[in-house]
Amino acid sequence: MIEVKNLTKKFGDFTAVDDISFDVKNGEIFAFLGPNGAGKSTTIKMLTTLLSQTSGKIKLNGYDPKTDSDAVRRSFGIVFQDPSLDDELTAWENMEFHGALYDIPKKVRRERIEKLIGFVDLTDRKNSLVKEFSGGMKRRLEIARGLLHHPKIMFLDEPTLGLDPQTRNHMWEYLSGLNKTEGTTVFFTTHYMEEAERIAQRIAIIDHGKIIAIGTADDLKQKTGTSSLEDAFLALTVFYWLWGTVLVLFFKEPARGII
Ligand SMILES: Nc1ncnc2c1ncn2[C@@H]1O[C@H](COP(=O)(O)OP(=O)(O)OP(=O)(O)O)[C@@H](O)[C@H]1O
Ligand SMILES: [Mg+2]
Repeated sequence: MIEVKNLTKKFGDFTAVDDISFDVKNGEIFAFLGPNGAGKSTTIKMLTTLLSQTSGKIKLNGYDPKTDSDAVRRSFGIVFQDPSLDDELTAWENMEFHGALYDIPKKVRRERIEKLIGFVDLTDRKNSLVKEFSGGMKRRLEIARGLLHHPKIMFLDEPTLGLDPQTRNHMWEYLSGLNKTEGTTVFFTTHYMEEAERIAQRIAIIDHGKIIAIGTADDLKQKTGTSSLEDAFLALTVFYWLWGTVLVLFFKEPARGII
């Protein structure tokens, strides 16, 4: 469903994403983990036509974002890391606007909006302006909006940031259900390791723009001799940091392109 080969993104001299390759299967739940500034959001932006790559190849649902951007955009829904709702519109209007953009027929649109707004527990606030919402309510509405056009792939960039545990569980239950019943592929980032361990079928760890490990949570734990994904994550990223530092200090090598 997602194919990435030798993908690189440079901002001037700085390489934010450095020659990464991975595949995500149809119907898979895939976590993309990494420390702050590792290159997660930059990768998602390239996969979703918001940024063009410096080099490398992407295929999403069989389409190339460079040449088939419309087909790619119809294939996915997205919850951005940064809020992207219109504060001056109501919850319902935000959903309507999105549905219209995706050409969802009016009747279906209304039914789906009603259902999704109910799912995120905003039915009694559906006609309130978004600027009057709490952070968690806004996040819930963004998730509902991303699901409106029944995308084949759902990208979620730190979707649970700032959500209370109850809402987080509720959201993952819904996404897991969607994954089971509709076969929706889910690609998400999070800094909550226990969430990734519980939900994801496979995990990639990116650090300083490079993928340093990929596999199931058990694979990563085995590889590092640890008993939790959090410990595996820390072991992998600390090792990478130490190795990079040694190269820079003793061999005057750049910290990149080594693993
Ligand atoms: N438009 C840009 N111009 C210059 N540098 C950028 C730009 N966007 C991102 N970067 C840099 O690229 C690197 C990767 O950023 P990115 O947002 O992908 O990280 P991230 O893994 O999503 O981190 P976080 O967990 O903090 O969200 C960072 O060093 C960031 O400063
Ligand atoms: Mg990010």
